[in-house]
Amino acid sequence: MHHFLFVLGSNWRLSLAELDNYLKYSQNKGKIVDYSANIAIVEFEKLHQDRQYINKLMEIQFILGGCQKIAEIYDFIDIKTIQDAFPIQINKFRYVEKSRKKILHIIDNLIIGKQGIFPKVYESMFFATSIYPNLYDDKYYSDILVKHFLPFLNKEIMEILKQKGAEKALYYQYPEKNIKSGNLNPIFPHHIIKYELLSQNRAEIIFGFTEEGVYIARTFTTDDPNFKKRIDEERPYKEFESAISPKLAVIMLNFLNLFENRENKKILDPFIGNGTIGLFAILQDFQIHGSDINNQKVKNTIRNFYWLLELLEEEIPPFINKRVLNHDARNLSDAFELDFFDGISTEPNLGPFYKKKPYYTQAKELLDMELEPLYDEFFREAYQILKPNCRICFVSPIISTVDGNDIQVNIEKLARKNKFRLVPLLDLNRINNKINQKLKFGKQHVKTLIDAKKGQIIKRKLYVLEKQ
Ligand SMILES: C[S@@+](CC[C@H](N)C(=O)[O-])C[C@H]1O[C@@H](n2cnc3c(N)ncnc32)[C@H](O)[C@@H]1O
Repeated sequence: MHHFLFVLGSNWRLSLAELDNYLKYSQNKGKIVDYSANIAIVEFEKLHQDRQYINKLMEIQFILGGCQKIAEIYDFIDIKTIQDAFPIQINKFRYVEKSRKKILHIIDNLIIGKQGIFPKVYESMFFATSIYPNLYDDKYYSDILVKHFLPFLNKEIMEILKQKGAEKALYYQYPEKNIKSGNLNPIFPHHIIKYELLSQNRAEIIFGFTEEGVYIARTFTTDDPNFKKRIDEERPYKEFESAISPKLAVIMLNFLNLFENRENKKILDPFIGNGTIGLFAILQDFQIHGSDINNQKVKNTIRNFYWLLELLEEEIPPFINKRVLNHDARNLSDAFELDFFDGISTEPNLGPFYKKKPYYTQAKELLDMELEPLYDEFFREAYQILKPNCRICFVSPIISTVDGNDIQVNIEKLARKNKFRLVPLLDLNRINNKINQKLKFGKQHVKTLIDAKKGQIIKRKLYVLEKQ
């Protein structure tokens, strides 16, 4: 059985949910069979039988917002063998030696061959070893895996390659100070491109841990974060304070469940601002429409769209400047036809950009008087212009207050009132939940997920709603 390892984005819960949704609804059906805070192990129903499956993996990589790399798995070592080979305290040396031999035997068998990590021996070979722990704050990672397992793997794999006939075998050397401190990031996607680790005589070899053990895999595709960053940072108009991240924009588009014939799918961002969601929708081939109450924002977005289409060297679609309207989201049905859109992805007005936490009463007034009525009217209108059974992916704020309590709009209630069903972001029946509290999903966790940095005053909460 072929399995693949997906390296998750920094918001791993959201990345996992995005991946599960993709595997459930796209043509490339499959299941997440194991996971940690860094990786997901995926079993596809059919994809691996396709001769062009590497191309398909590249397509999947491009579509997903929360996936850093995709690797093919060659073998698995259970956690007990690893812990026997690399114990926290060495009591029984015999065990250590025996288990290390077992690990080496496994690696020796999978490193070269038609079904191996390298298809054959090359004169000059290069590899980078990446270890993804179960959790980064795991002491076993910083004390043992980084300081002992990683050097062991590098040295032994290099030896094996030489024994098998490589004249030159080198490995990627992480900065010594990071190894000593146990604070190490596996190599970044842009390094994979820089060191040409996707070519045949070079490889990134991933050792991805879960509670069950370690999966050994070779990277086949990687995200191109520089390109997304370029779109985000170099576009003519931007406002970092109020814009969502490229990753979140792409994830939000994917939760609309429109994976096939994207070029025919009409989607709307009715609070388009400077157009982050719109730009990534163009990149992902959708027919994007937008509107905003602020005419300057409308002009900015149109300018940004032209800029991106030129960058992509794509033909400018006719009437692109008519696709973004100066319009109030509270009466969308005046501007758009009924049952017109296949999906709506949007980040509405979230309130002022607070530099200091507001008082509870202040935030409550904002929610009650401004945001809740705005969202309510928007949902009512969205119902009219959305096709049946289609979805809204919506961001709502959680505001931290000085008095200590977080406050938010009850989106589930508003959705129900306007005949939308709240779709849980992750289907708990589809994953094997974990024992570790930090990794476990509770029922409440999966209804919605949060995208926020530590200490952020306004956190973004993601909702998926379906027209009933
Ligand atoms: C948080 S910003 C969206 C930012 C956007 N995601 C971006 O990347 O630039 C919210 C936008 O909603 C717009 N807005 C506020 N109230 C609105 C309304 N009633 N109808 C339409 N747009 C509105 C604001 O002008 C602002 O551009």
